[in-house]
Amino acid sequence: MPMNLNMRFISEAEVAERLTRAMAFDSVTAALIAHYRKNCDQPLKPYVRPGGRDSERERGRYIAMPAYVGEPVDAVGIKWIASVPANVDRMLPRASGVVILNDVTTGRPYAIIDCATLSARRTGAVAAIAFAHLGLRGQSLSLIGCGPINREVAFALTETNLSISQLRLFDLNQERAENLRCELLCNTDISICICTSLKSCVCGSTNIITATTGAKGYIDPNWLSDCRFALPLSLDDFCSETLLAADKIVVDDFDQSNREEKLFHHIVRQGLLHREQIYAELGEIVAGVKAGRAGDEMIYCNCMGMAVEDIAVAKAVFDSIEQD
Ligand SMILES: NC(=O)c1ccc[n+]([C@@H]2O[C@H](COP(=O)([O-])OP(=O)(O)OC[C@H]3O[C@@H](n4cnc5c(N)ncnc54)[C@H](O)[C@@H]3O)[C@@H](O)[C@H]2O)c1
Repeated sequence: MPMNLNMRFISEAEVAERLTRAMAFDSVTAALIAHYRKNCDQPLKPYVRPGGRDSERERGRYIAMPAYVGEPVDAVGIKWIASVPANVDRMLPRASGVVILNDVTTGRPYAIIDCATLSARRTGAVAAIAFAHLGLRGQSLSLIGCGPINREVAFALTETNLSISQLRLFDLNQERAENLRCELLCNTDISICICTSLKSCVCGSTNIITATTGAKGYIDPNWLSDCRFALPLSLDDFCSETLLAADKIVVDDFDQSNREEKLFHHIVRQGLLHREQIYAELGEIVAGVKAGRAGDEMIYCNCMGMAVEDIAVAKAVFDSIEQD
């Protein structure tokens, strides 16, 4: 327990230096197991949209993500994260925010942590964990959208050696795909190709992970005959047919996923999908209570993003700095 009553500010640069992808992977794994065991408290996250949904691109969206993660993590705090997609046109990152950690005994806040990198790296770890259990290995992987989130996904997957035969990249902004390819080439010997169209990136691909902004239902179900693993981190990329045709649907948390007018929410609200049809929450699979992939079935994994993951990773960053 931190007894120092001084508030510690941990900058983006310190997080980037301290938070290895292995650390993020371990912390997110611990958080998912705590979530499965209900050894946590994680209320539904509120969204603030100053201009409503229709002007989210320009005026942004703010999410408050509080959680307590039980022993052995034993941390309580909140992530307060802003997303302004129009920032990318201003040469600024889309996402920015902070995590506040509170002392679990006194309640006193003891750290404020800049969290764009933390949040991206934890999302990369979620993708690597989901892929390890649910992806079809030894096959191709397509990343749709090459911003900071899929950049972290690419590094998390390549560093975890999850045997990908070919990495395909597509972004509406081809320069972003090129930049990611260059960066990856310096760090991995996986075959990487830039696709010039969405269709060529998706058709024939086995594993597909999306991290885009704004677009909905733009991946034609007819292109997905070879797809065996879909992980839409941006949540709305696939069509309802694709989700409903999956052999297994996995979520990080049903109640968190069933909100905010996302594709999953729409399908549940229309009565096309019920809680009982969900194969598992990711934590159950990570804890070994439910099996992951069996054969070449099609698995759709809806990860809304959970505060327990952020708080566990933030605590690991803080501990690593304090231990020095
Ligand atoms: N599920 C989670 O846990 C989680 C966590 C963090 C972020 N996200 C989501 O990940 C997404 C990406 O975040 P980011 O910070 O990388 O955003 P970003 O805006 O920096 O990058 C997104 C990229 O997607 C590209 N793009 C947009 N529409 C596209 C399309 N139709 N096809 C191909 N490329 C397209 C853009 O050109 C851009 O390069 C956001 O939607 C964010 O909300 C999810």
